[in-house]
Amino acid sequence: MKPAADLTEAEALDELTRLADEIAAHDIRYHQQDDPTISDADYDALKRRNGEIEARFPHLIRENSPTLRVGAARSEQFAPVEHGVPMLSLDNAFSDEDTAEFDARVRRFLKLSEDPVAYTAEPKIDGLSCSIRYERGQLVRAATRGDGRVGEDVTANVRTLGEIPKALKGAGWPEVIEVRGEVYLGHEEFAALNEAAAAAGQKTYANPRNAAAGSLRQIDPKITAARPLRFFAYAWGELSGPFAETQWQALAKLKAWGFQITPQSRRVEGVGGLLDAYREMEALRPHLGYDIDGVVYKVDRLDWQGRLGFVSRAPRWGIARKFPAQQARTVLEAIDIQVGRTGALTPVARLQPVTVGGVVVTNATLHNADEIARLDARVGDTVIIQRAGDVIPQIVSVVLDERRKGAEPFDFPHICPCPLHTEVVRETTHSGAETVVRRCSGEFACPFQKLAHLRHFVSRRAFDIEGLGEKQLVAFSERGWLNAPADIFRLHEKRAELLETERYGETSVRNLLDNIEARRAIALDRFIYGLGIRHIGETTAVVMARGYGTVEAFLAAMDKVAARDADAIEELDAMDQIGGAVIEAAAGFFAEDHNRAMVADLKGELTVQDAEQPKADTAVAGKTVVFTGALERLTRDEAKAQAERLGAKVSGSVSKKTDIVVAGPGAGSKLKTAAELGIQVLTEDEWLALVGA
Ligand code: IVH
Repeated sequence: MKPAADLTEAEALDELTRLADEIAAHDIRYHQQDDPTISDADYDALKRRNGEIEARFPHLIRENSPTLRVGAARSEQFAPVEHGVPMLSLDNAFSDEDTAEFDARVRRFLKLSEDPVAYTAEPKIDGLSCSIRYERGQLVRAATRGDGRVGEDVTANVRTLGEIPKALKGAGWPEVIEVRGEVYLGHEEFAALNEAAAAAGQKTYANPRNAAAGSLRQIDPKITAARPLRFFAYAWGELSGPFAETQWQALAKLKAWGFQITPQSRRVEGVGGLLDAYREMEALRPHLGYDIDGVVYKVDRLDWQGRLGFVSRAPRWGIARKFPAQQARTVLEAIDIQVGRTGALTPVARLQPVTVGGVVVTNATLHNADEIARLDARVGDTVIIQRAGDVIPQIVSVVLDERRKGAEPFDFPHICPCPLHTEVVRETTHSGAETVVRRCSGEFACPFQKLAHLRHFVSRRAFDIEGLGEKQLVAFSERGWLNAPADIFRLHEKRAELLETERYGETSVRNLLDNIEARRAIALDRFIYGLGIRHIGETTAVVMARGYGTVEAFLAAMDKVAARDADAIEELDAMDQIGGAVIEAAAGFFAEDHNRAMVADLKGELTVQDAEQPKADTAVAGKTVVFTGALERLTRDEAKAQAERLGAKVSGSVSKKTDIVVAGPGAGSKLKTAAELGIQVLTEDEWLALVGA
């Protein structure tokens, strides 16, 4: 690309026209459809290029220039709300130099001497901004940003958010105040939402921001209410009178009135302070449990903010220092289709290896056929991939300019790649609607599904059989030794063949067979989880094991559930956290003869231990416990299992129902919520002392 300085006027005009259209189209996808097609970093690059050309040719700035616009026009589905004070945006800083320049500009403008300026440094929450109007302390209206001047009325939806007070607490609030902040979704909640959507065959969201925006902008507030949206307050719009002298004080007041404010925010001085805060936030980022995409710096003194004012669409008193994206560019070498345990065909992108955020990435998920079509990803394309925390890398976009000639759109197979070559069926919901999921129709006869089942069966949280990895599973099933889980417990009959034909060393064969023997006695919850029934994850398996107590009771109940016996269904439904999806899945599974035969065969090989009943007389029996932050003496799994053994319930989020929060280093918002709700907080050592470990 030509540097902006070398462009002729005609070229500049041409490019500005193209950029205006392109950016406007991306704005609509992002702001109205909650479904962006390019990464934030690429979007920022387009805006930067537009700004550079405009700076060189100011007379070419268009009336509809992206620089003069914030966001996109609101959607027609919501009533318009004119903001008393426009909701503007922040300029971005991408480097330490940009940050120093921001501080220099502030001091130049205010004609300050050498004294360092005080700023707040706040995490830049990656959600969607919202303005909530209070009159005499009562919530009267809430609006999205929209185009910055007119937003969408989302009052009914915002009222369903637990972290937004319907009435301000305390006293001293101005008669009219519009509190502004970010509506967002935590990582765990995002994953759960997508999992549920995928299970129901619905469209999944690309990231927590889109999920938050999609959840808030629902026509039916009941849907919003069911989504665990959260809110951080950080600014305000219209005010009937001043309420603070500094941003720092203002945050404290917002907190006192019942809002959550970002606990990582700090008050810092000078460029050194700004840069330290950035490094600190960068280090905290992976542990927060929600997405932040940078740090927002604001001049702390509000009288100075007033003097600094705004330039076109952004304040002079603040700036957003963005984190570099955890993105990289690579080549999509192939699209493979994997067959999962349930027969779902999942496309996987095979990539030319590339390092993203310090990790070498070779595969990325493509979710389903619709996602491939949405991206228009073709083999041989140059693609932008993104990694966020522990999330499986994903393809954000295709670099169309670099597509080679003749690249063909991906043709999703109609025949399953499994050796049965079955016809691929498109899954439908109960009501008959088509979903995005495509399945192999081979069920248990499909060797791919069989392998996926076996892989699940031997996995760490199920039967945990060491030495029986992918390689062995494939080799043994090819020899016909492994067709179902029970066969694992008959592998010892093949000892001689194993030693001769497979040329495994004496020790490794002995170890493998010993490991298998060690699992012949198995806890009931692992047995249930190991069956790999849809929707019966580890937690559900524990609940069912506790509920039924013995394998005999479990199997008897499952037969009745499969026969749609009302009492048996009611008994299962009454168990904690178990609902329709689990009941349907269990009934469907046990209604199949081949599944019942498989389970009976397996049970014959095992001693299934009765479920440990939680102890009723411990210090934590019946209490709800949340673990947060890093634990040092126990793994999370151990801590959870220990608490459950002692009769406690372990939850992932802090609420009024929580009794104890065990917080290790790095604990963030959960700890804060606990403090606000007055919940007992223990260190890991205190917890261990309490449970007598
Ligand atoms: S203050 C005049 N503070 O970033 C704009 N914004 O690019 C005042 N954001 O629209 C915004 N965290 O959606 C502010 N601590 C924070 C923020 C924050 C996230 C978002 C917000 C805003 C955008 C600005």
